[in-house]
Amino acid sequence: GPVAVVIVAAGRGERAGQSDGPKQYRSIGGRTVIARTLDAFLAHPDIGPIVVAVHADDEALFRAAALDAGDRVMVVHGGATRQDSTRLGLLALKEKSPGAVLIHDGARPFVDAETIDRVILAIDAGHGAVPALPVSDTLKKEAPDGTVSETVPRAGLHAAQTPQGFPFGPIFAAHQKAFEAGVADFTDDAAIAESAGIPVRIVPGSPDNLKLTWARDIAMADQRLTGSRT
Ligand code: C5P
Repeated sequence: GPVAVVIVAAGRGERAGQSDGPKQYRSIGGRTVIARTLDAFLAHPDIGPIVVAVHADDEALFRAAALDAGDRVMVVHGGATRQDSTRLGLLALKEKSPGAVLIHDGARPFVDAETIDRVILAIDAGHGAVPALPVSDTLKKEAPDGTVSETVPRAGLHAAQTPQGFPFGPIFAAHQKAFEAGVADFTDDAAIAESAGIPVRIVPGSPDNLKLTWARDIAMADQRLTGSRT
């Protein structure tokens, strides 16, 4: 059946600065980040219901940005952490009993259909899937005094992207369990799956599938889309 989607967009985007409002609602190449993110899933033939977790203060901004998305998109208010926003999004999908769900950062508008395909193909009843790229920089662990305490071998290490995909029942149960245990600091859903014993397959991500975190990420994305130079 169709694959459901949770898009988490309830962060305050503080690292990108608040002067022009939360980053998801900034325009890049003439369209908001969140509308571009939604477009990628609305246009994909395997995708069914979509839930977007937004900050309560941003609901009007979201509705204005997603005017053309229609009734396939449900809105819920997010939580204090990404993990909690995800859980609230999954809760809203529960009544639809999807077989599988993709969980995606609203701040990754450049996700492409091929990445979505690879994730969907790697999900089954017993496995989740994470798109990821091999780490190319050499990794340094910092000691409290600011010196390098260790060079971490990068062989086998990957940087995780989204969308991450899972069988719906197991990932919902894993989120509920973490919530009830008071654990709230998972930074992605693959980590929650791992903690619950759900094996997660790594599939290739895309170098374009960047998370827009900093003000300069937004500026660079806008330049790339408009072809302008500074
Ligand atoms: O802060 P970070 O860049 O890791 O956020 C990743 C995604 O999680 C963003 O799309 C952000 O809007 C979302 N998020 C959320 N609820 C929070 C914090 C972050 O939906 N409380």
